[in-house]
Amino acid sequence: MKDVVILGTGSSAPDNVVTNFDLEKIMDTSDEWIVQRTGIKSRHIVKPGEKFSDFAVPASQQALAAAGIEAADLDLIICGTMTPDYLMPAGACTVQALLGAKKATGMDICAACSGFTYGLAIAEKYLKCDPDMHILVIGGEIISHHLDWEDRTTAVLFGDAVGAAVVGTRENHGAKLKAVETGSDGNLGRLLYIEGMGSATPVTKDYDIDNVYVKMQGREIFKHAIRNMVEVSNRALAKAGYTVDQVTKVIPHQANMRIIEMLAKQFKKPMDKVFVNIDRYGNSSAGTIPVALNEAIHSDFLEPGDVVLLTVFGGGLTWAAAVIEW
Ligand SMILES: CC(C)(COP(=O)(O)OP(=O)(O)OC[C@H]1O[C@@H](n2cnc3c(N)ncnc32)[C@H](O)[C@@H]1OP(=O)(O)O)[C@@H](O)C(=O)NCCC(=O)NCCS
Repeated sequence: MKDVVILGTGSSAPDNVVTNFDLEKIMDTSDEWIVQRTGIKSRHIVKPGEKFSDFAVPASQQALAAAGIEAADLDLIICGTMTPDYLMPAGACTVQALLGAKKATGMDICAACSGFTYGLAIAEKYLKCDPDMHILVIGGEIISHHLDWEDRTTAVLFGDAVGAAVVGTRENHGAKLKAVETGSDGNLGRLLYIEGMGSATPVTKDYDIDNVYVKMQGREIFKHAIRNMVEVSNRALAKAGYTVDQVTKVIPHQANMRIIEMLAKQFKKPMDKVFVNIDRYGNSSAGTIPVALNEAIHSDFLEPGDVVLLTVFGGGLTWAAAVIEW
C-alpha cells in the first residue's frame, strides 16, 4: 500500500510587521515583558482591506507548485480557520474558486489553533479510503480582527498568517504521515473563546463589539496546553510505532516560548531540535503548524531520516499531534 505523504507546503503572512515597541505606543506593555513571558518580538498584522484568502491563496499556490500538482487536480480542500473571508461561503470554497480547483470539494474545520492538524487527520483518513486523491490542507487565521487592542493580556500574543500543504499518496517519498491523533474537551471551552458571531449572540443594531474579541484565561490555558500536547503526542507516537526518544525534531504550536521550552523538557529534546518562529509571528492560531512546517522544510532544520513530531493545542479546547518520517 502507498504511504500518505506531504507533497508540498507553502505559507504567507501580511507584509505589515508590528513589533513589541509598536505595541508599547498603544497599550500599557513593554518589549521586555512580552519577550520574557512569551518569546514574541514581532507579529504580522493585516492592513485594512486584507483578508484570509489574500494569504491562503499564495500559500496554497506555493504548496501546489512544490507538490507539482495543478489546482485543477485537487479533489478536496480542507481549511482549518475561524476567520474565513465570509461566514458563508466556507473559506475552502472561496479559495477553491480563486485557485480554479474546479473538481475539488471545499470544507472548513473549526478547531481554532488545531485546525490545520485536524485537517491533516481528515486528509489521512480520506486517503486511506481513496489513495488517488490530492488534498489541499490549509491552516491559518486573520485573528487580529478579533483582538481587543486595549487588552494587553491577549492582544500581544497573536498574529496573522496562513500555511498550506498538499497531501496525497506515493511510494518511496520522504515525508510520510505516519499517524495523526486528535482530541477535544468542550467542558473547557470557556477558557479560550470568542463569544460573538454565533447563534447565541445574534447581531443586533446595538451589538456589543466586545463580543467579537478573543477572551482567555492565560494561566489555565498554559497548564492544559502542556498536559494535552504531551498526551496527544504520546498517542500519535504509539500509533506510528515510535517512542518519544526516537523523535529527532519537534515542530510545536507557537503560542508561548515558555510552553515550547516546557514541552522540549518533557520530550527530553535540546532546543536546537525544536522549531521556533514565535519571535517573528506570535501565535497565528491554525497557521502556526503549517507556517512552521513550511519554514522548517525551507531551512536546514529538517534532514532526511528525521522522525518529526507536530503538536498543537487551541480553543475548544482542542489538541492534535502528527508524526512524519522525513
Ligand atoms: C498570557 C500569558 C503570557 C501571561 O503570562 P503570566 O506569566 O501567566 O502572567 P499573568 O497573567 O499572571 O500576569 C502577570 C502580570 O503581568 C501583567 N500583564 C499581563 N499582560 C501584560 C502585558 N502584555 N504587558 C505587561 N504586563 C502584562 C498582568 O496584568 C499581571 O499583573 P499583576 O501581577 O499586577 O496583576 C501566559 O499565561 C500564557 O501564555 N498563557 C497561555 C496562553 C496561550 O497560549 N493562549 C493561546 C492558546 S492556543
